[in-house]
Amino acid sequence: MATPHKDFPNLFVLDHPLIQHKLSIMRDKTTSTTQFRQLLKEIALLMGYELTRSLPMTTKEIETPITIFQAPTIAGKKVAVVPILRAGLGMADGLLDLIPAARMGHIGLYRDHETKRPVEYFVKLPDPEGRIFILVDPMLATGHSASAAVDVLNKRGVSDDNIRFMALVAAPEGVRVLSAAHPTIPVYVAALDSHLNENAYIVPGLGDAGDRLFGTK
Ligand code: URA
Repeated sequence: MATPHKDFPNLFVLDHPLIQHKLSIMRDKTTSTTQFRQLLKEIALLMGYELTRSLPMTTKEIETPITIFQAPTIAGKKVAVVPILRAGLGMADGLLDLIPAARMGHIGLYRDHETKRPVEYFVKLPDPEGRIFILVDPMLATGHSASAAVDVLNKRGVSDDNIRFMALVAAPEGVRVLSAAHPTIPVYVAALDSHLNENAYIVPGLGDAGDRLFGTK
């Protein structure tokens, strides 16, 4: 069971050995695009297992070959997986393997050169009614895109209570920005790294997650 980070009460660092081992391979700059993509998907699935632990449960009467049984099932809440484009797509794949019935939304943001702030260019979401939204982006760096993506969901009727955020690697700066804007949203990461460098890359990080995932430069 994940416990909150000592400095950030809404942050859960999932330190399972399999997650940590796979992440170390991803960080290595010699890891190929094929391997990087596969590992990101596998880690997302493992993280999703922990993140979905909080889904509400109920029971449903079924008949086994032997008897009537009150069987545990997930209570009503439907799930939407929403990658922040484009690197989020690589994590969404793993989550969809775990929750095949989940709906999928997409949020595309670009950085305005003048304001340096994220601006939405593409948003497509499923009906928010009775749904939990899992926002995914591998790198929680400055926290500006993450906060803007949550704002996008809020604007379309999804309250913070129904949002979870999942990233592979976070910088403390990003966690601070996201939790200042949305203090009740649980944030699940595989690692909390040291800091951001002058180009807003996470240190030690793994480089540009989108480029490594899609083999671009
Ligand atoms: N985005 C990335 O892909 N990598 C970083 O280190 C920071 C932001």
